[in-house]
Amino acid sequence: MAFKVATANRSGGCGKTTTLTSIAALANNDMLEWIKQGWTIRGRKPRILIIDLDGQCDSSYYLGVADPDSLCMVCGERFDDELEPKERQPEDMCDGGRWHEPIPNIMDVLSADTSIREAIRATNLELVDLLPGTKHLEAAEKNLASATGAEFRLMDAVAEIEDEYDLILFDSPASYGLIAVNIFMATDDVIACVKAGMKEIRALVHLEHTIKQINTKLKHRVRPRATKIVAVLVTDAPGSVNHGKAYQDAVNFARDEYGELVVTPVTRDVRVIEAYSARQPVPLYDPSSNAAKAFGKVYPELIGKGVLPSQRTAAGV
Ligand SMILES: Nc1ncnc2c1ncn2[C@@H]1O[C@H](COP(=O)(O)OP(=O)(O)OP(=O)(O)O)[C@@H](O)[C@H]1O
Ligand SMILES: [Mg+2]
Repeated sequence: MAFKVATANRSGGCGKTTTLTSIAALANNDMLEWIKQGWTIRGRKPRILIIDLDGQCDSSYYLGVADPDSLCMVCGERFDDELEPKERQPEDMCDGGRWHEPIPNIMDVLSADTSIREAIRATNLELVDLLPGTKHLEAAEKNLASATGAEFRLMDAVAEIEDEYDLILFDSPASYGLIAVNIFMATDDVIACVKAGMKEIRALVHLEHTIKQINTKLKHRVRPRATKIVAVLVTDAPGSVNHGKAYQDAVNFARDEYGELVVTPVTRDVRVIEAYSARQPVPLYDPSSNAAKAFGKVYPELIGKGVLPSQRTAAGV
């Protein structure tokens, strides 16, 4: 059974994707070590899955599947997915003269058009697979609202493959709408990412409230274990109050409010922004950067809390 973890906060740009992709990169490196040490559990390699549930598809981008809606699953080429049918020329067509077919994405899975197994792809990280996002997520979320069992779709899809993974990571949108409800139903644990600011930290109460509602109104019916906020990660992403005293005040405030849940904060570091351009999680882009070092501390802290697997806990020991 996989460890299931989401990063969440309805505030945009607070480091959800940066944190998630950093954890995936560090887990990839860690699990490659397990293999070197002779991992033989379950007769397969340890594996990680990222499910991209944000319309901007940033985690897909980080993992080498930029703009999934314009990648053809038939010919493997890029195509202009905005082209109206009447504008399409013969040279725009796919093999066999038909229009291109985009690779399956998370919405195809949630709308039950595609099985989760069909939609999962390999990435440029050896042990990390990806269920790609789609820029049409918001529109599709509205259609999903009227579907039967809309809140359970992700949980049910994940149940089909969770024995094949050791860690499943959910990248959330900046909202607590139906997609977020699906995430909180499917995941066990939530890492609350928050910009370093008093106002932002106070707003985490909405995340706590949303998760509590989902646990009491829905989740207790289908799973014995409630979803939990297991860590609060304060990031000094651009738009946070500032470096210096205000930043330290915010971290102290988070510690007063959330105590032991607060893990090592990640200070502002231009390497994070460069890593995005280079399409590499920051621990791989520049392992000596301050941000990579901070995530290097957060990672074992999360293992210590039982949020991420170690070689021993993944084996069920
Ligand atoms: N510690 C940091 N130092 C500098 N820049 C950062 C840091 N953390 C995040 N950023 C930058 O801030 C922006 C937002 O980060 P990220 O995409 O991880 O947030 P998010 O919560 O996933 O956003 P969204 O809600 O839009 O999905 C990105 O451009 C990222 O590169
Ligand atoms: Mg994001």
